[in-house]
Amino acid sequence: MIDLRSDTVTKPSKKMRQIIKDAKVGDDVYGEDPSVIELEEKIALMAKKEAAVFVPSGTQSNLLALLSHCQRGDEYICGQDAHLYKYEAGGGAVVGSIQPQPIEFEKDATLDLEKIKKKIKPIDNHHARTKLLCLENTHNGKVLSLEYIKEASKFAKENNLALHLDGARVFNAVVALEVKLEDITKYFDSVSICLSKGLGAPIGSVLTGSKEFIKEARHYRKMLGGGLRQSGLLAAAATYALDNHIKNLKKDHELAKYLTKKLKKIDKIKIISNDTNMLFIEVENSKELVEYLKNNGILISGYGELRIVVHRDISKKDIKKVIEVFKSYYIK
Ligand SMILES: Cc1ncc(COP(=O)(O)O)c(C=O)c1O
Repeated sequence: MIDLRSDTVTKPSKKMRQIIKDAKVGDDVYGEDPSVIELEEKIALMAKKEAAVFVPSGTQSNLLALLSHCQRGDEYICGQDAHLYKYEAGGGAVVGSIQPQPIEFEKDATLDLEKIKKKIKPIDNHHARTKLLCLENTHNGKVLSLEYIKEASKFAKENNLALHLDGARVFNAVVALEVKLEDITKYFDSVSICLSKGLGAPIGSVLTGSKEFIKEARHYRKMLGGGLRQSGLLAAAATYALDNHIKNLKKDHELAKYLTKKLKKIDKIKIISNDTNMLFIEVENSKELVEYLKNNGILISGYGELRIVVHRDISKKDIKKVIEVFKSYYIK
């Protein structure tokens, strides 16, 4: 199967499995796992933050950020389709009693600062206390510009809001903008980064921020059952991914662009967007097309608007096959 549903389907390579096998481990709940310590220090250094904490998933990382920034009865502002609001089982509300205030994303995946301003609650007994603003980069593959991030950071400071980034795919933004991680992360109080998506590690995310913030996040990680023991097995794979796989994201972006260029030539396919490693298309009979692709060895996501995600386990040969199968469906 050529699996284009998500970059989460990437599998650890032979070399990565060897790294996992040979990883030095200890009890991380005692703070004694050398591979976890190495990964956390590495990410903190790359992001120019004081500290970091390794967690099982991006969902837990985002939830730790909400819990560590906000108290019960506080509020966070985020995008209407933000992963941490829409696709994480309402964790902030359920576990933290933190009220979400979603706002529609603009077409470029920014949140309009004027619209946010209107939603910040005045300090008054009637309202939840607005404490946090959350951005997502990349969102549906779209990269936030450094100018916008800088503006959003200034805005957050002026309005006494902490600023969190769901940077599940922040390295796709790093590669697209040709900048360093710190050029993006320096504007945020906290950043969640996934190692198990385009970077190809099997499991794990890292939350990074100030020492005090990460101390708080570690407390909540334990509470949520995320305190793992010999998790160096996973951390070693993540460190290997950081050392070796970031540069490969460029290939994913190029292949997604190549596929877009070819599919654009088919009249019945409407290209909605193509940014970094993602491509969204609209077609009639989308259910039938998804089924046809599946019967021809290709998996893609969704009904209605369809999502195609290129990742490190996809080659140019695979993409060429995808183009041929699309053509065989439309050009009879
Ligand atoms: C933007 C974004 N944030 C967070 C997550 C959550 O990551 P995880 O699946 O590791 O919980 C995802 C997962 O796909 C995501 O796309």
